[in-house]
Amino acid sequence: MAIVAPSILSADFANLERDMGVIRDAGAPWAHVDIMDGQFVPNITIGIPVVKALRRVSDLTLDVHLMVDRPGRYAEAFCKAGADYLTVHLEADTPEKIRQTLLTIRSLGVKAGISIKPGTPVEALEPYLAVCDMILIMTVEPGFGGQKFMEDMMEKLRYLRGRLGQCNPACLLEVDGGVDSRTAPICKAAGANVLVSGSAFFKAEEKAEFVARLSAEA
Ligand code: DX5
Ligand code: ZN
Repeated sequence: MAIVAPSILSADFANLERDMGVIRDAGAPWAHVDIMDGQFVPNITIGIPVVKALRRVSDLTLDVHLMVDRPGRYAEAFCKAGADYLTVHLEADTPEKIRQTLLTIRSLGVKAGISIKPGTPVEALEPYLAVCDMILIMTVEPGFGGQKFMEDMMEKLRYLRGRLGQCNPACLLEVDGGVDSRTAPICKAAGANVLVSGSAFFKAEEKAEFVARLSAEA
């Protein structure tokens, strides 16, 4: 079974508590929270106070995706705000700083994730495979919802599925960008077990059915 993580980037920001309830009522166990700083990506979304507020009104697993330059500056604050998973981008700082940030996140009792953009080769993740709890493969350029799924990223998932089997079998493998009921089976067949879905989830008429279909075995 895959974990479905609807992305609140496509929710109504004036009704976040209501939409966290929509996610829960659809049977999705996680909510994906996109943090963008206008530097690492050309868009700005929400920050620490909003994560804190979401934590107050929801028991869903908060999967916080930092698209932020030098994320180590904010890791502790997001952990304390209530993130359950905190994912940083490999491209957002030096390898040493990123490694240190993953260790900091874990030391605060939060699951540490690392992500790569479509242009970053998967081999660049090798030094981090043993020190993270989740790897997030972007299947669009980070920054905006509603973009086209990049199927050529599936090669990265297949590679990681093999490598994690050898060195970190508990590590989750997440995909983000353009995931819907057509592309989800492709992701699962390539080894993904966490599926982020923003626009497709919020557009779906029958959300419980949508979540059940995405979470079903490949
Ligand atoms: C994009 C974000 C995604 C976004 C996905 O930068 O990281 O989480 O919400 O949206 P969809 O599912 O619409 O591609
Ligand atoms: Zn995301």
